[in-house]
Amino acid sequence: MNQEMKATMVIDKSYEISEIDQRMFGSFIEQLGRAVYGGIYEPEHEMADENGFRRDVMQLVKDLQVPIVRYPGGNMVSGYNWEDGVGPKEDRPKRLELAWRTIEPNLFGTNEFAEWAKKVNSEVMMAVNLGTRGIDAARNLIEYTNHPRGTYWSDLRRQHGFEQPHNIKTWCLGNEMDGPWQIGQKTAVEYGRLAKETGKAMKLVDPDIELVACGSSHAGMPTFPEYDATTLDIAYDQVDYISLHQYYGNYSNDTANYLAKNMDMDQFIHSVTSTCDYIKAKHRSNKTINLSFDEWNVWYHSSDKDKQIEPWQIGPPQLEDVYNFEDALLVGSMLITLLRNADRVKIACLAQLVNVIGPIMTENNGAAWKQTIYYPYMHASIFGRGTSLKPVLHAPKYDSKDYSDVPYVDSAIVKNDEENTLTIFAVNKHLTESILLEADLRSFEGYSFIEHIVLDHDDLKATNTAGHEAVKPRKLNKVELRDGSLRIDLPKTSWNVIRLKKS
Ligand code: AHR
Repeated sequence: MNQEMKATMVIDKSYEISEIDQRMFGSFIEQLGRAVYGGIYEPEHEMADENGFRRDVMQLVKDLQVPIVRYPGGNMVSGYNWEDGVGPKEDRPKRLELAWRTIEPNLFGTNEFAEWAKKVNSEVMMAVNLGTRGIDAARNLIEYTNHPRGTYWSDLRRQHGFEQPHNIKTWCLGNEMDGPWQIGQKTAVEYGRLAKETGKAMKLVDPDIELVACGSSHAGMPTFPEYDATTLDIAYDQVDYISLHQYYGNYSNDTANYLAKNMDMDQFIHSVTSTCDYIKAKHRSNKTINLSFDEWNVWYHSSDKDKQIEPWQIGPPQLEDVYNFEDALLVGSMLITLLRNADRVKIACLAQLVNVIGPIMTENNGAAWKQTIYYPYMHASIFGRGTSLKPVLHAPKYDSKDYSDVPYVDSAIVKNDEENTLTIFAVNKHLTESILLEADLRSFEGYSFIEHIVLDHDDLKATNTAGHEAVKPRKLNKVELRDGSLRIDLPKTSWNVIRLKKS
């Protein structure tokens, strides 16, 4: 190996960041565009099961091992009447869905989603409407989903064919309530009060649930982080997590700058963590509020196309970003950032899952296929379970338009004691050079190399289509592992998964 560029790393068993909460690899289905209609639900499709769920899509979701899926929104939840989506389908009303200006036929609702989630081995993360509705609708919904029997709403669920409660444990108190685009936008004080009282009533129905309060819609909101601080100050005792949302795009076609954007995500996480801890100190509380990064992804390719879509359609092709190879690299770096903050980020949802800014795409009545971002997400979800370790990493750096001292190599390390494995996730952001990674693994005696999975492509703008998967992982075998020292090549602009196992 004659590389000019080298990164060194020390990985030690004792450098533990935290156990990784498996909900870090969650995703999101919003009742929006073709996420549900034509995505996960298409009764006329030849692959549909007895519930109308597409089997081909379910298989792609199962392969991702998605532990939790947020539902039904998103912006949509702020105008949603959950009662419209339960009971006999022929009685369900069609409504104007105001967040995305579509027609919502309500052929798919809470029970269908709970059923679908069970089939793909995921938990449900349910959001309640704190835009147009509030305490009453939320306490009724949780009685419907979680109470066993013998009351109006729980017996209605049983009458609807669901004898057993869905037992949903993780709940979002509204969505992006600070945003002017949100139906029923609220000031921090208005929202804090409503979140507190709604959370209180919901926990009276089921004390075992966990509640996520809305933080700011993104780090660039003018009221960030004051909105988060005020909300927490008011609702501290009732809530368990605060939400973060962030999307990135390569608007100026500057790849070096684009690939550095996970540094911004890291900064956002640290700012919200500090805000939580400030309120904790202010309350002299022993309780720690953790982070639910329940919307994150790349989102920008579809913005112009969406402006052409006529309103008031059922399942129009909204937010259908077609991801390229460089997007997969940034998604990989964002996953690395989440893993490196596993001590405070307990829940995270790649937004979204199918068709709408999703790793999975479908054609109505046709194929289902994997976007470029499917792969880093799948690798992190499958191999990222266990304990996150802090790598002591020295990599060459660069400056970009908005960021200084960007390391060319990003890395996160996961040790899994049950399976005796060690996984190194690494992104090489260098546009032209491969980088030699030298890792000191002396505390992992007896571990041997299993595989080096690489996602790379000569064309940063390469995309996948239904008929052709241009961007897919390959395996490399050029590795030296001797006397506790690993030497491995990270190809230029690549996502890497290096797996070791104790023999
Ligand atoms: O995920 C798409 C949208 O992005 C969600 O509906 C909203 O919460 C966010 O602004």
